Amino acid sequence: MNIAVFASGNGSNFAAIAEAVKTGKIKASLKALIVDKPKAYVITRAKEYNVPCYVIELKNFNSKKEYEEKIVSILKPLNIDLICLAGYMKICDEVLLNNYPNKIINIHPALLPAFKGAHAILDAYNYGVKVTGVTIHYVNKEIDGGKIIAQEAIMIADEEKIEDLEARIHEVEHNLYVKTINKLLEDYDARIN
Ligand code: GAR
Repeated sequence: MNIAVFASGNGSNFAAIAEAVKTGKIKASLKALIVDKPKAYVITRAKEYNVPCYVIELKNFNSKKEYEEKIVSILKPLNIDLICLAGYMKICDEVLLNNYPNKIINIHPALLPAFKGAHAILDAYNYGVKVTGVTIHYVNKEIDGGKIIAQEAIMIADEEKIEDLEARIHEVEHNLYVKTINKLLEDYDARIN
């Protein structure tokens, strides 16, 4: 099985996946990192893990369609079975979704459908909810939409600092993403064989 990760920023989830592949926790080959931001720290992490990294910027294409066609042209020869979005801050459009139906998943740092968007941890914290968490879901055209695959809840302690909550959420993300990717790949494998 072959996987690819898409990311736009820090890349802690990418690193968790790459580490799990390296140690055999995820039984797959991590074939590519697709990045849409040339200065993203995740690029440095990809080098550390020897994962081929492709920086593709939307601004260099005439349309989102052409941008996604370029990504698909990279992924097709790599026979990618599963695409894992990990802090990839773009909507996936038709070209990606049609080429990889039910093969693109995303991680989100809240219990969807609550607190969609790019600032979910802070939004949940500021709202004052007592329980938040992490969601992994299939990707569709909506921001943080699509069928939920896995969720894990996290209690927010009274007086907890936002930094501490963020750290706890990221730790849960890293474990849940690895576990979920493995489960999906095992399911695919069982269906194929
Ligand atoms: C993660 O917390 C991920 O859940 C979130 O971006 C962060 C990326 O961190 N994604 C979303 O908010 C999607 N709406 P990372 O670059 O350290 O993996």
